[in-house]
Amino acid sequence: MNKSKVTVIGAGNVGATCAQICAERELANEVVLLDIKEGVAEGKSLDLWQTAPVNYYDSRVVGVTNDYSRTANSDVVVITSGLPRKPGMSRDDLISVNAGIVKSVTESVIKHSPNAIIIVVSNPLDVMTYCAYLTAKVDASRVIGMAGVLDTARFRAFLAEALDCNPKDIQALLLGGHGDTMVPLPRYTTVSGIPVTQLIDSEKLNAIIERTKNGGGELVKLMGTSAWYAPGSSAAQMVESIVKNQKRIFPCCVRLNGEYGVKNAFVGVPVKLGNKGVEQIIEIDLNATERNDFNNSVKAVTDVMGVLDGMKLF
Ligand SMILES: NC(=O)c1ccc[n+]([C@@H]2O[C@H](COP(=O)([O-])OP(=O)(O)OC[C@H]3O[C@@H](n4cnc5c(N)ncnc54)[C@H](O)[C@@H]3O)[C@@H](O)[C@H]2O)c1
Repeated sequence: MNKSKVTVIGAGNVGATCAQICAERELANEVVLLDIKEGVAEGKSLDLWQTAPVNYYDSRVVGVTNDYSRTANSDVVVITSGLPRKPGMSRDDLISVNAGIVKSVTESVIKHSPNAIIIVVSNPLDVMTYCAYLTAKVDASRVIGMAGVLDTARFRAFLAEALDCNPKDIQALLLGGHGDTMVPLPRYTTVSGIPVTQLIDSEKLNAIIERTKNGGGELVKLMGTSAWYAPGSSAAQMVESIVKNQKRIFPCCVRLNGEYGVKNAFVGVPVKLGNKGVEQIIEIDLNATERNDFNNSVKAVTDVMGVLDGMKLF
């Protein structure tokens, strides 16, 4: 499926960054950027297309204002439309506005690209993935939320700094919802195969885990809005694994249907991503503490899923 068509909905900070990386890495023949604000997607796409001769890529970048016919037959659609957090807000505070946006956008996406694989980025992430799934009415393997790639990237970046080592050598895993209850897993974190617990004392490691959990909030405080470089890159990495059928294993938000003893909840677990979308959900062994933390995170997510159910949009 390499050299396919990728659409990014929402030409804001995250969407434009994701489109830029998809184009620069030539993940698609055509990258379509769509926004509701007149001219914004057209302008950013034109600007991006003018980097093609400089940055040596030939993915065509096209921008449109709400014209879904231009997104037709996309292989992958990344949904980033919606409000970002402002200082003092939790991701869950965004649900009332973003649920309406994600629902209407997904309806239009699936109408024009009935076979697309959908990657959701809008927050609150796990519940917006649920919202897109309810709207799209497609197999759950085709609706995937981006959170774990970003959260592990933050964890890995902090570890690389603390250990003065190369971030490329760090592999990490994390489970649960995209919020304060996320569960970074030091037992499944290695530096070139060496368990990280052998390289750093537990006090420093715990401080890094706490910083990871609040990694989004740290950036909101600094910038007055939420992050985009790492989120846009993380979504593009998922696109890459799908369009190139790389079958990479990433923590992603997917619908659990009995895996990990959980039914009909959208939470982060390790999955294999290929051109069918989620090709495998991998169940790893958890000790009592990890299991308990995971269950707490599932509970936090299902509570917010209940808020969406209560909005009676479906
Ligand atoms: N999953 C994650 O890890 C993660 C990380 C960062 C940000 N986010 C979330 O991603 C979303 C986007 O963040 P951002 O920083 O790019 O925000 P932004 O405000 O820069 O961009 C959002 C864009 O969506 C557009 N939009 C709004 N309604 C639309 C609609 N109906 N159709 C098409 N476009 C529409 C807006 O015009 C705007 O350009 C937010 O909800 C944010 O919380 C998620």
